Amino acid sequence: MGNGRVALVTGASRGIGRAIALGLARRGFDLALNDIDRQAEALEAVAAEAHSAGIRAIPYHADVSSKAAVQAMVARILHDFGTIHAVVNNAGILRASDVENCPEDYWDSVMDVNAKGTFLVTQAVLPAMKAKGYGRICNIASIGGKHGAPEQAHYSASKAAVMGFTRVLAQEVGPLGITANCVCPGIILTDMGRVNLDDPAIRGAWQAKTAMARIGDPEDVAGPVAFFCSDDSAFVTGQTLNVDGGIVLD
Ligand SMILES: NC(=O)c1ccc[n+]([C@@H]2O[C@H](COP(=O)([O-])OP(=O)(O)OC[C@H]3O[C@@H](n4cnc5c(N)ncnc54)[C@H](O)[C@@H]3O)[C@@H](O)[C@H]2O)c1
Repeated sequence: MGNGRVALVTGASRGIGRAIALGLARRGFDLALNDIDRQAEALEAVAAEAHSAGIRAIPYHADVSSKAAVQAMVARILHDFGTIHAVVNNAGILRASDVENCPEDYWDSVMDVNAKGTFLVTQAVLPAMKAKGYGRICNIASIGGKHGAPEQAHYSASKAAVMGFTRVLAQEVGPLGITANCVCPGIILTDMGRVNLDDPAIRGAWQAKTAMARIGDPEDVAGPVAFFCSDDSAFVTGQTLNVDGGIVLD
């Protein structure tokens, strides 16, 4: 059963984005599902799975780091659904390298997708949210943007950028009835997470550092994101919530 709300989830074909999308579907959101062209088949499969929750789900292929592609995608979503109530900026990439050897294009591409993509998608949806006097923006940052780990300085910088962006965005859009918050996943078992987890020694070390003594599943992130997309979080904005089983203890 639908709840009358429409959510856009970027990078929704797999991993955390897929789990967030299906979590929102279970809560009755209609879904605009985004990913890049080469994920078309996987994105279709997520849309089909979401349909079984009795909601509408439409895939949209666009690279979130391209302003033209993002603007065109949001125009199509507004045409198809009429409005957008919630956005989850989840699309992200990680390309590991130490600082000394980091190729310039690693820095540029990680910043382009993680930081600029969040900015471009947010910018594109704001007019529709402003017109309604309602919006929920949930940006997926990372505990890597607070603490970080070797070979991820550029990734950490991109996620710190997302958090800074969100804090100021919250101040700009608060008077318009729009909230903006960040979720910071910890170590989650996805294609991206495997960079940290393929080596059993590294995996064990992360587990030992985690209060819950386990690695996270994508589904662990879905509930907190759904909270930020709902009316239960109506008076919560500009916040960053660690969803890490207790690694970074604020
Ligand atoms: N897995 C972890 O441990 C972890 C920890 C902290 C934060 N995160 C963050 O969570 C988010 C999801 O990560 P994940 O682990 O599911 O990774 P993943 O690689 O499994 O999924 C990322 C998705 O984003 C899509 N994507 C990449 N570039 C894109 C672009 N330019 N435009 C549109 N879509 C694009 C990919 O195709 C993929 O479907 C990312 O922002 C990531 O930085 C992940």
